[in-house]
Amino acid sequence: MKMDNPDQPIISLRHVGKSFNAGQIRALEDISFDVREGEFVSLVGPSGCGKTTLLRIINGLIAPEEGTVCVMGAPPVPGPHLAMVFQSARLLPWLTVAGNIEFVLQLKGLSRGDRLARARALLGAVGLRDFADAFPHELSGGMQQRVGLARALAVEPRVLLMDEPFAALDAMTREVLRKELLLLWSRRKMAIVFVTHDIDEAVLLSQRIVLLRPRPGRIDEVVNVSFPEPRSQNDPRTLPAFAAMREHLWSRIHDMVQDGAELEELAGAFGSADLQHADPR
Ligand SMILES: Nc1ncnc2c1ncn2[C@@H]1O[C@H](COP(=O)(O)OP(=O)(O)OP(=O)(O)O)[C@@H](O)[C@H]1O
Ligand SMILES: [Mg+2]
Repeated sequence: MKMDNPDQPIISLRHVGKSFNAGQIRALEDISFDVREGEFVSLVGPSGCGKTTLLRIINGLIAPEEGTVCVMGAPPVPGPHLAMVFQSARLLPWLTVAGNIEFVLQLKGLSRGDRLARARALLGAVGLRDFADAFPHELSGGMQQRVGLARALAVEPRVLLMDEPFAALDAMTREVLRKELLLLWSRRKMAIVFVTHDIDEAVLLSQRIVLLRPRPGRIDEVVNVSFPEPRSQNDPRTLPAFAAMREHLWSRIHDMVQDGAELEELAGAFGSADLQHADPR
């Protein structure tokens, strides 16, 4: 991977398309957008609109059938510049918490002592300093997810891809980890592409939201979110502009709903409480 021009976007997608099942499922069609260095972009949209597929294309795990994807000026290759965090942490169960982080630091060619020091510093950053020697099964889901985040940050990626990283967590843990993510991001400023079903979470965290619509997965709208930074200290959720933006996004999602059957599908995807809340009629 190379980076010729610092003004060049760190991620660039042009007319990306992808089908599955011999063309029967049109997962993505004509997706074009850029992500700048250090930018926080969220991908939002109903289940099946292609968010995970798009992350995997950006990560270089699957190739687009049409169009081009560039990360740091070249076709993406999975590796230390590109880190991915999934919905569950996927830790190696036979290694300790620190061992899981050291494991990825080996790829960077650090000495044992440096790896250990770095692993412990990262665990401190995600509030797990005292759990370095614990095994994954001894941690709660939220704690494991923090280890996953620390592990992704260990390689100091220029790009961090996150696929619903907080979806499986309880509301309180989710809130804490959102704040931690904002803090880590404000210190390190890697580019983040964050997939979420949670409209409030997208508006809270990101600087730009790419709203996708399903069948085929296409961009519905790109929304700029310009609340005061750092958000970890200036919670935008009490601002009138926050409510206006979430209402706007929900009304777009309602526009995607054509009939009752689809509404049911969406209620499943987003959580029916959210839909009730969103419907002003
Ligand atoms: N490996 C695969 N083989 C066949 N079809 C696939 C594959 N991966 C994704 N698809 C299809 O592509 C479409 C987009 O799937 P994708 O997982 O990207 O959606 P998503 O937006 O991440 O959904 P969710 O919000 O439920 O996670 C879906 O119709 C899905 O069935
Ligand atoms: Mg997905």
